Amino acid sequence: MPSALPDFLYGTAWKEDRTAALTELALRTGFRAIDTANQRRHYFEAGVGEGLTAAYRAGIVTRGDLFLQTKFTYQRGQDHRLPYDPSANLAMQVAQSLASSLEHLGTDYVDSFVLHGPSSGYEWTSDDAEVWEAMRKQRDSGRTRLLGVSNVSLQHLEQLAASGSDLPAFVQNRCFARTGWDREVRAFCRARQIIYQGFSLLTANPEVLNHPPLIALAGKLGATPAQVVFSFARGVGMLPLTGTSNADHMRQDLASLSLNLPPEVVPAIEAMAG
Ligand SMILES: NC(=O)c1ccc[n+]([C@@H]2O[C@H](COP(=O)([O-])OP(=O)(O)OC[C@H]3O[C@@H](n4cnc5c(N)ncnc54)[C@H](OP(=O)(O)O)[C@@H]3O)[C@@H](O)[C@H]2O)c1
Repeated sequence: MPSALPDFLYGTAWKEDRTAALTELALRTGFRAIDTANQRRHYFEAGVGEGLTAAYRAGIVTRGDLFLQTKFTYQRGQDHRLPYDPSANLAMQVAQSLASSLEHLGTDYVDSFVLHGPSSGYEWTSDDAEVWEAMRKQRDSGRTRLLGVSNVSLQHLEQLAASGSDLPAFVQNRCFARTGWDREVRAFCRARQIIYQGFSLLTANPEVLNHPPLIALAGKLGATPAQVVFSFARGVGMLPLTGTSNADHMRQDLASLSLNLPPEVVPAIEAMAG
């Protein structure tokens, strides 16, 4: 079902030589969507590919069952292990990065190709416009089904929209409760049918996980505070990411999909810290 959109993304950052085993474990546990990046500094994408191959061989999944997402990262976000020739122009770097991702992942298309972060923290630059156009061409050539942007502000998105170029299918951002869970960016996304992917939902929000009423609610529902946060995220329309390395947490995170929060809880958590 390659055209289906996922309900939970398993993130593969910071796993180094455990990447293959944890990717395979995530698939065995039931995840069907994998987030990675061709950025060796934080991700071992070839290890993700090894985990996929192991899962295919074991008959757990086929490529068609999966949603695979990777990213293009500018040189300043990389270390010396670059997936492209840094002297090539940006369009060529995008093409080389995605070709290398497809090789790492043992596939001829990804489901989503994401700009890891704009070139400036403040505005959508001409470099970003060039990269975005190159990514659009990769999509039109069938090497990715969908496109996304990550680590963006409302201003980035408004400038991208004003440029008249295609809007992304996904926005992937770190989601802090103290900003109303990225309220402005989520509103922009909601108004344009862009799917908001939230990461660091647990690590960015210790004050939520330690909030006594949230702990009490979790206890009442027979859930963990982490499950309540993931369920809340889905309740406000987010597609959550988890990068857990723990088998029990993998199961708990997936089980949060069937946790039903009382209707008044979602707006209460949304307004809790921002
Ligand atoms: N676009 C970007 O720039 C960007 C940046 C950062 C991350 N990401 C993506 O997002 C993914 C997730 O990253 P993250 O920042 O959200 O952090 P994460 O890697 O998911 O880390 C979550 C932390 O919370 C702990 N944890 C405790 N209970 C948990 C539970 N029930 N479920 C899950 N974790 C639990 C985990 O420990 P245990 O391992 O012991 O469970 C881990 O230390 C990454 O792998 C990556 O794919 C993208």
